[in-house]
Amino acid sequence: MKLILLGAPGAGKGTQALSLSEKFDIPWMSSGDLFRSHRKENTDLWKQSFGYIEKGLLVPDSITINMVLSWIDENSNKGFLLDGFPRNIYQAESLETHLDNSSGIDKAIYISVPDEILIDRLSSRVVCKVCGIPYTKSDKNKCTVKACTGELYQREDDKPESIKKRLQVFMDETKPLIEYYNFRDKLIQIDGSGTVESVRESLESSILISNK
Ligand code: AP5
Ligand code: MG
Repeated sequence: MKLILLGAPGAGKGTQALSLSEKFDIPWMSSGDLFRSHRKENTDLWKQSFGYIEKGLLVPDSITINMVLSWIDENSNKGFLLDGFPRNIYQAESLETHLDNSSGIDKAIYISVPDEILIDRLSSRVVCKVCGIPYTKSDKNKCTVKACTGELYQREDDKPESIKKRLQVFMDETKPLIEYYNFRDKLIQIDGSGTVESVRESLESSILISNK
């Protein structure tokens, strides 16, 4: 299966992706996590990307597309679950061209959540420094995923000004993808405003139905 998770910042893409990738046995790639995996070593890729990420802007396509398509080439024999890519029409077309020998993606799933809820979620989020899994701020300060136990921190782009910018960028650049995939009969839309468990159930059942 080749799936894309579409959704605004805070929609719950990262929250849902790990269990979906385990349930359907497909590798998960978060483009944001891929960028952040360069943070500790302060690589050239991180130096080129950080300014955009911190401000809530998209990293230029020339950097992002190479990074993601290389990940696909190295990891996707069993399909993939892409979280955060594509994020504009040009990226979607580049992905389509790259997958040209196969039949392209199977489905793009848009997790829809109202802005007020997104802002609340992002303002109270912390993520694992090691595996990137998101949590809501609480008394927990270590990741609880299997043997991870990474420290939790607040992302640089979860400051109020960056959140506002990211939501605007989503509206302007990423939302057109909903129509793009709808036109190709690849779009599934689900309501992401319920509990984590109810959103997971909707996602799993919509994937199962679409795969019949
Ligand atoms: P990225 O890391 O992808 O960030 P994003 O798209 O802004 O999305 P988030 O990770 O903020 O939200 P999410 O949907 O994963 O929500 P989460 O599950 O954490 O990208 C960061 C940056 O990298 C971009 O701004 C850009 O600069 C760059 N970048 C990345 N991809 C790029 C691309 N393709 N092109 C160019 N640049 C790119 O949930 C949020 C919070 O809510 C958590 O605390 C969670 O616990 C909580 N929560 C989740 N679901 C629920 C629920 N149902 N009920 C209650 N709480 C919930
Ligand atoms: Mg995420």
